[in-house]
Amino acid sequence: MDVIHTKIAIIGSGPAGLLLGQLLYKAGIEHVIIEQRSADYVAARIRAGILEQVSVDLLKFAGVDQHLQRDGLPHSGIEILTQGKKHRIDLAGLTQGKQVTVYGQTEVTKDLMQAREQAQLHSYYKAQDVQVHDFDDAPYVTFNQNGKAYQVQCDFIAGCDGYHGICRASAPQDKIKTFEKVYPFGWLGVLADVPPVADELIYVQSDRGFALCSMRSETRSRYYLQVPLTDHVDDWSDERFWEELKNRLDAESQQNLVTGPSIEKSIAPLRSFVTEPMRFGKMFLAGDAAHIVPPTGAKGLNLAASDIAYLSAALIEYYRTGSEQGIDQYSEKCLQRVWKAERFSWWMTHLLHRFDSESEFDLKIKQAELAYILGSEAGQTTLAENYVGLPYEIMDLDQLS
Ligand code: APR
Ligand code: PHB
Repeated sequence: MDVIHTKIAIIGSGPAGLLLGQLLYKAGIEHVIIEQRSADYVAARIRAGILEQVSVDLLKFAGVDQHLQRDGLPHSGIEILTQGKKHRIDLAGLTQGKQVTVYGQTEVTKDLMQAREQAQLHSYYKAQDVQVHDFDDAPYVTFNQNGKAYQVQCDFIAGCDGYHGICRASAPQDKIKTFEKVYPFGWLGVLADVPPVADELIYVQSDRGFALCSMRSETRSRYYLQVPLTDHVDDWSDERFWEELKNRLDAESQQNLVTGPSIEKSIAPLRSFVTEPMRFGKMFLAGDAAHIVPPTGAKGLNLAASDIAYLSAALIEYYRTGSEQGIDQYSEKCLQRVWKAERFSWWMTHLLHRFDSESEFDLKIKQAELAYILGSEAGQTTLAENYVGLPYEIMDLDQLS
């Protein structure tokens, strides 16, 4: 068995694990990443694409924003389409100039992987039977790779291994509490090399269900439809998808919609999920390992980034000064922001989707709520300030340098 000594063992090479690795590297803190999938698989996963300004700042600070600056599309507003009419939410105007950036999470992952390769930092891909041990005292991780057994002895374990990972599953049952809400529908997503239907994202509330018109670039569109969980992607030919999307849009968007062959099509279930706490002795959970949001608020990657900002600051402080203050406060600080983003994502999901269980009364109330939000500056500001991202303490990035 190969025994490796390091300071931090990061489990999972998604955006959370990769960003933590990059920030630790910048601070000169030794670490390894252990990932069960192949590098190609990780780099190809297609996911959401909206970055809050604080996430963009963090990626810049981490030194991985060259492509993001070149290809990212700054958006200062979004459209909400309801009752056949579009209403613009002036994100920048309502939040003292804050914007979001449209940039695929797949690209964020690739940029971080490339930076890692350039810095010649090691990741163990295709690691099998990954297990975390003794994280109350002297933590270590075991796994197999290419038929060889490894043991990684470390000071801390960072559980960045997503919703299905082993870190959360290894936490003692009597010390962990989880909160969950599963929604009775999914999102059917299509990626296509066609110009986006509009310059800004359109969130659609319609009698036929929710839809979202998003994009990756001026020539690549990303569209979503609310579909029953019982549907299978094979039920949705490209023709059927475009037809249904059209049916949920307003007349102007119907006219502007350019259709074409899909290059990716998949159905994802929607879930709200939070784990408390996010620290178990010398093991921390971060990103999807600790919480899931439905994609309606575009918060998944952004929450992973804020966890990592807190975690990296805590670890850097610990190694520089010996103080455990950041480590001790990690879980509580993250959870404060997590629950606010959970609330926003749940609220957007409720407001914009069609639920089979809704009565006519419920629908009228929902319509009134939408009318209130869209007709009031206070209502729009609430939506805007959550959408662009609530502030967090570490946005003084000096704390990480
Ligand atoms: N051992 C090692 N790696 C594992 C294990 C395991 N037992 N289980 C899972 N992993 C890996 C997965 O293969 C994946 O590459 O951990 C990684 C977790 O990555 P993500 O699921 O992308 O989670 P995270 O990095 O927290 O990113 C959060 O991803 O799903 C979106 O909306 C979410 O945008 C958010 C972002
Ligand atoms: C996306 O572009 O994939 C996207 C954008 C906004 C969301 C969710 C997904 O709310």
